[in-house]
Amino acid sequence: TWTMVNIVEEQLERIREQIGDKRVICGLSGGVDSAVAGALVQRAVGDQLTCVFVDHGLLRKGEAEQVEKDFVAITGARLKVVDAEERFLSALSGVTDPEEKRKIIGREFIRVFEQAAREVVTESGEAGAEVEFLVQGTLYPDVVESGGGTGTANIKSHHNVGGLPEDLQFTLVEPLRELFKDEVRKVGEELGLPAEMVWRQPFPGPGLGIRIIGEVTHERLEILREADAIAREELTRAGLDRSIWQCPVVLLADVRSVGVQGDGRTYGHPVVLRPVSSEDAMTADWSRVPYDVLARISNRITNEVREINRVTLDVTSKPPGTIEWE
Ligand code: XMP
Repeated sequence: TWTMVNIVEEQLERIREQIGDKRVICGLSGGVDSAVAGALVQRAVGDQLTCVFVDHGLLRKGEAEQVEKDFVAITGARLKVVDAEERFLSALSGVTDPEEKRKIIGREFIRVFEQAAREVVTESGEAGAEVEFLVQGTLYPDVVESGGGTGTANIKSHHNVGGLPEDLQFTLVEPLRELFKDEVRKVGEELGLPAEMVWRQPFPGPGLGIRIIGEVTHERLEILREADAIAREELTRAGLDRSIWQCPVVLLADVRSVGVQGDGRTYGHPVVLRPVSSEDAMTADWSRVPYDVLARISNRITNEVREINRVTLDVTSKPPGTIEWE
């Protein structure tokens, strides 16, 4: 629309003014905000921008490819990918405590991102080259929240992967500072980003790492990724994407139950479906997903993911339950 075109044009102008001929980096997380912010800055200053994507191995099926292929194809952005799954998994080895997982993932993320930022500087090849700017996908509500002191208790340490490494010296470029989420989505559409990226539901920075109850391993991640992909596919097919806030699929990796699949007895793991409706994630209600949709998800998961022999539904509102299980 006309106003979106205006907003985009105005932002491009401001970004060019701020960055001048300096170099800038942007951490991509797979989320909407960093993708839109990155795409805007790319359009404003082209190859002065390098995007950095730290693949911690905890993303959902297809999300890393979306960043590495679709985002690059559409925006033409220069992208540095760091495949850090092994590093994250070895740091997480033996860890089951939720806050401990968050701390480790946050810490490793910052280390890997800093290293990548240094490499971007070196690889730029110019003598004395420096990256002076860092793009952040800060939205208007984040600005209000951090300045306004809402007085709400922070029950979990929300580390936003893609967030700012504290001891790196950068000036922030925050092209989404005045926008609400729905406006960010419109800007993303205006920039030609794919619907799956623009309409992606909220996904926690620590990713599937906090949706595996128990130790996080590569094998467990593979199992959860398959189950999660099936649930997302069926919810999308049923047209429920935009009415459901998000639907975590949680793998109870340390729980086993007896089942029967084909001719044989199985001793597999349960997953929990956690579809919720919400306005802002501060409170939430469990979504009344139609039974036939739940049935399809359950049938497909137990048929297609060998290790899972039971699908359960979480019918707890928030409070008392949080949206995520960890
Ligand atoms: P809870 O589980 O606290 O989640 O009800 C509220 C919203 O926040 C997301 N979430 C996170 N996001 N880092 C994030 O960036 C985190 O550690 C984290 N933990 C929860 C959650 O997906 C929901 O949208």
